[in-house]
Parts: sequence; C-alpha cells; structure tokens
Amino acid sequence: MAVTSETSLDDVVVDLAVDLAGVRLPTPVMTASGCAAAGRELAPFLDVAAIGAVVTKSVMLDPRSGRATPRMVETPSGMLNSIGLQGPGIDSFLATDLPWLVSRGARAVVSIAGGSLGEYAELGRRVGASPGVAAVEVNISCPNVEDRGLVFACDPFQAGRAVSAVRRGVPRGVPVLAKLSPDVTDLVPVAEAVLEAGADGLTVINTTLGLAIDTDTLRPALGGTTGGLSGPAIRPLAVRCVWQVHQAMPDVPIIGVGGVRTGRDALEFLLAGASAVQVGTVVFHDPSAPHRVAEELRAELAARGFSSPADVVGLAHRPPAPGGAHG
Ligand SMILES: Cc1cc2nc3c(=O)[nH]c(=O)nc-3n(C[C@H](O)[C@H](O)[C@H](O)COP(=O)(O)O)c2cc1C
Repeated sequence: MAVTSETSLDDVVVDLAVDLAGVRLPTPVMTASGCAAAGRELAPFLDVAAIGAVVTKSVMLDPRSGRATPRMVETPSGMLNSIGLQGPGIDSFLATDLPWLVSRGARAVVSIAGGSLGEYAELGRRVGASPGVAAVEVNISCPNVEDRGLVFACDPFQAGRAVSAVRRGVPRGVPVLAKLSPDVTDLVPVAEAVLEAGADGLTVINTTLGLAIDTDTLRPALGGTTGGLSGPAIRPLAVRCVWQVHQAMPDVPIIGVGGVRTGRDALEFLLAGASAVQVGTVVFHDPSAPHRVAEELRAELAARGFSSPADVVGLAHRPPAPGGAHG
C-alpha cells in the first residue's frame, strides 16, 4: 500500500508476516546459520517463536571438533571466521536441539553441510524424516572430498547434485533452500542449477573468503589461515548478489544475508529482491537483533507508506516513476 491523499503515515499498519516458499513466517527476519547455534542461546533475549525463524548452525553427519584456533578475528566493519563446522553431529542435533526448538514453537530451519553427495543424501533423509522442520537450508560452501576438495557452491554441476541429493530425502511440503557462495564469477548459473535440482528458494549469501595477517607474529591471524568474511563489510556484495539473482529469476524466493544490522539494512535487501533476511554477525553483540531489526523494519515500511514487506520486494528494479517515489 502506498500513501495517498486519503491516508496519512499515521494510518499505516504494517503486518510483518511473509510467505517464504510456502512457509508462513511472522516476520521476515531470521537468524543466520552459525551465529545463534541452535537457538537456545537466544532464549534469554527474545521469544524464539516470535522471530521469523531460527536457522541452526550447519550440522554434519558426524561430530566435528573444527579447525585450529584462533578461529575469529575482527576486520574493518567485519569479521573473519574459520570455525570449520564444529558441531555435535546429526544424532545429537536431532535428539536434543531440534526437539527444543520445536517445543518452543520456533520455526526451525535446519542447515546441513556435507563433504560428499552421500553425506548430503543421508542428512536430507534424516532431517526430512524429523517432525517439526520448517525448511532445510543446504550449506554448499563445503569442500567436496570426491572432487579434489573443490567447494560445491563454486561449480553449478556439483552444487546441483548436492541439492538434488538432499531434495530426494525431504518431503515435498518442506522447502529446501540452497545457500549460495559469493565466491564465483557469476552466481546466476549456480542459482539455476540448484533450482533445477529442486531447491524451492535461495539463501544469498554465505561468507566470502578472506585472510588477515597478524603483523606481530608475522603469521596469518587465523589458525585455519583463510576464513569467511562477514558483517557490514560484505553488505554491498550481498545486496549485489541478491539483485543479480532476483533480476534473472524474479519469482524465486530469496533470503538476503550479509551485514544486516538495522531495519534499514533489511529494507535494502527487500528492495533488491529478497523476501526475507537473516542476521548473523550482529547477533554476537546484540542477541536481540532478530526481533529489533524486524521492529525497525516495521517502522521503515510504515514511514514509507507500505503495509507489508511483500510490497517492497524487488521494488528497486522498477524504473523511477514520473512524479512519485513509489509509482
Ligand atoms: C561465526 C560464524 C559461523 C558461521 N557458520 C555458518 C554455518 O555453520 N553455516 C552456514 O551456512 N553459514 C555460516 N556462517 C555464515 C552466516 O550464516 C552468514 O551467511 C554470513 O555470516 C553473512 O551474514 P552476516 O554478515 O550477517 O554475518 C557463519 C558466519 C559466522 C560469522
């Protein structure tokens, strides 16, 4: 809804609920994988049932101890991490973490990560057979042990195979989201391949590869040498990726992620073509961010005369309207 002569901005009531690949979310703001574990840590700060969704840390088949320390380093307007998908493995996740989220009434988006097609298939089957899963997010930014360690997300063919392996095990009513890496020349062929393989939506983007050197030790600052760059530093990169994918496939649900700190940042992603956003790095210093950003977004939408997040999805792609910003 746009403001007309009959309405004033005071009249605008914003309903934040969105539909994402068939799943109704109370707000378009969810956590980003790896930044709020399995949601329990957020409970002292917000009601996990009231935020858009909780996206869990990527779970692998077996327990993993992760990469060498140090695993995080601050960078200008961002952060580098090389956690190496440390985690308890799927058995423990399904026995404790998922039931907790479901018992709290949260929409649980389960992120899975594999090192081979067989692992993705097994994870898809196990998660797909578990009650209470709102959606499955496939983290394909993982080295493929069967293909010289090349990252699935960097090759449209392998990215498609990983998503297809998962899709086969997940019931039709549970959306499969493919999480894309920005570390490619052209994101669109990867997006096309994962959609062809059965993805119902896209999460755009994972971290981008970076490296920091400690000038005191004269060595890389991270134990794992390279790490994933996140935070406000990558927001323009993420917005560009969302823009390009939405432009190529305007009907595909996109979740924008990368450097969202405020409702205005979230609005920027919606205008670029995202239907929802995730908040990651910001949660480390403001665990209430999934709630706060949604309320700020509500105010940003109301101030511009829009009554729903859906009203602004992809709006920045429209040519400027003569005589009015909302045309
Ligand atoms: C410490 C840390 C751990 C992360 N772990 C995961 C993960 O397990 N799986 C995944 O798909 N993305 C992971 N990510 C990437 C985030 O989900 C997100 O895509 C990225 O950080 C960009 O968003 P942000 O700038 O809001 O943090 C991680 C990011 C950080 C900072």
